[in-house]
Amino acid sequence: MPPRERIPPLSAAPGPAGRETALDTDAAEELLSRGEITVEGRLTDASNATLYCRIEFDGVARACVWKPVAGERPLWDFPDGTLAGREVATYALSEATGWGIVPPTVLREGPYGTGMCQLWIDGEPGGGLVDVQEASAPEPGWLPIAQVAVDDGEGGHRPALLVHRDSEPLRRVAVFDAVVNNADRKGGHLLPGADGHVYGIDHGICLHTDDKLRTLLWGWAGEGLPDDALETLRRLSTDLGKDLGAALAAHLTADEIAALGARVDALVRTRTHPVPTPGRRPAVPWPLI
Ligand SMILES: Nc1ncnc2c1ncn2[C@@H]1O[C@H](COP(=O)(O)OP(=O)(O)O)[C@@H](O)[C@H]1O
Ligand SMILES: [Mg+2]
Repeated sequence: MPPRERIPPLSAAPGPAGRETALDTDAAEELLSRGEITVEGRLTDASNATLYCRIEFDGVARACVWKPVAGERPLWDFPDGTLAGREVATYALSEATGWGIVPPTVLREGPYGTGMCQLWIDGEPGGGLVDVQEASAPEPGWLPIAQVAVDDGEGGHRPALLVHRDSEPLRRVAVFDAVVNNADRKGGHLLPGADGHVYGIDHGICLHTDDKLRTLLWGWAGEGLPDDALETLRRLSTDLGKDLGAALAAHLTADEIAALGARVDALVRTRTHPVPTPGRRPAVPWPLI
């Protein structure tokens, strides 16, 4: 891995990659696994080496994100495996649910060694999904996360409400995060897709054995899980005992896979969205967006 400075920062956030037709999952995985990767720049707000690239195979080209394992900053609380492996495991779980939350993601060889390659999704991070409202109650269609203070422009602060959208696709992300024990679901890790679909990105710090759920999506805490989500979780529990569990073993420890199964089974048993630890404020990531 060359020094960070040798890979140019992108002068502007990558805009829409173009009016490219959508790829189905198989085609996307083939492109990501076999395509030639050309690094175009690093994403400046990324804490690890997160590179914006073009990838091309058999006449098909798309934008992608490349995160080489060599560019991972070691984390004391995630000593096992690699962040790239956790991203790929999270993708496998997203596919197993059929919810299509995580963009197609593969582990492969590429610039600077082994890394994870993920399809780039056009969309403003957090756009239309998270907001700050200066009211005591959220507007219709929004759910409260926490009270915050906003600058009043006169050297002081005004109370406001951090809110997220109340939508079924976002609610599935909340369930998914409870399953994968996501420690970093900030606004910028949500990408709006077509027709209200919501993508989630940056799953390097998921799937720990200990409860690490840090998310903005607390709006359904304590509410009953939707029936279709319960159905999906029951199927996931069965799959984890079979091929899916075996496939995850390439990226996770046996304890992490057991803890994953226990989280899924607890959701099925309680039929309820998780609540923040009693007596404590909701665990939210920092920065929030
Ligand atoms: N698959 C993707 N599609 C679109 N934008 C992405 C994708 N992955 C990352 N990004 C953008 O790049 C930024 C940094 O990527 P992220 O995965 O959050 O890296 P890091 O682990 O370094 O925080 C994100 O906040 C987002 O704006
Ligand atoms: Mg990030």
